[in-house]
Amino acid sequence: MKVIITKDYNEMSKLAANMIKETVNEKPNSVLGLATGSTPEGLYNNLIEMNRNGEIDFSNVTTINLDEYIGLNGDNPQSYRYFMNNKLFDHININKERTFVPSGVAENIEEEAKNYDKKIDELGGIDVQILGIGVNGHIGFNEPDEVLIAGTHKTGLTQSTIEANSRFFDKIEDVPTEAITMGLGQILKSKKIILIVKGTNKADVVRELLKGVITTNNPSTMLNMHRDVTILMEEEVSKLI
Ligand code: PGA
Repeated sequence: MKVIITKDYNEMSKLAANMIKETVNEKPNSVLGLATGSTPEGLYNNLIEMNRNGEIDFSNVTTINLDEYIGLNGDNPQSYRYFMNNKLFDHININKERTFVPSGVAENIEEEAKNYDKKIDELGGIDVQILGIGVNGHIGFNEPDEVLIAGTHKTGLTQSTIEANSRFFDKIEDVPTEAITMGLGQILKSKKIILIVKGTNKADVVRELLKGVITTNNPSTMLNMHRDVTILMEEEVSKLI
């Protein structure tokens, strides 16, 4: 596991964007695994700028997102499909038909989950997966639990995640309590993983991850099983670890 400490959030976002640029320039039809949340917003802003400047071309890129809330369709401003369109896809030269976010309103979520994994396999897997991390160590919506599920699946959200995500909603009762998420087995199949850590409130779970233990109580520790993980973290977080 490689750890890179950056001066601040801007430097971290730029570095992550450069890593994506290198991947896409080397392989123009890359499959990029993307994440939502406040952490990757800076990365997406940098990618938009690079695309405008002609430094990166998304015309042959495919994207696969980690997760979506159950019950929200893509027109809902709180949905992750809406977030991705609004924060990235609408501003770059990507073919929207090659941007995949699991559907939270599919009639049969189990079927949707199975098809999502099939789609990723058919695409030949994910070249680079971008990850954020929850304050409880979740990756995607793989919440701490006694068991973790390898493939894409439906899951309940923990109270800690509902509270953390309530900042994006008018009131906490509006936060969906279930989601569809790529499982850690599928995430670990990605050829390369970049974990971006923003916020000092993530220091405790990242400290545990860096200890090299593996526990389902902190799903991020599963990343210890992967050969090519780069962790980018702000200096102010690293000081607490
Ligand atoms: P954040 O969320 O980027 O908004 O901190 C990260 C996550 O919950 O995975």
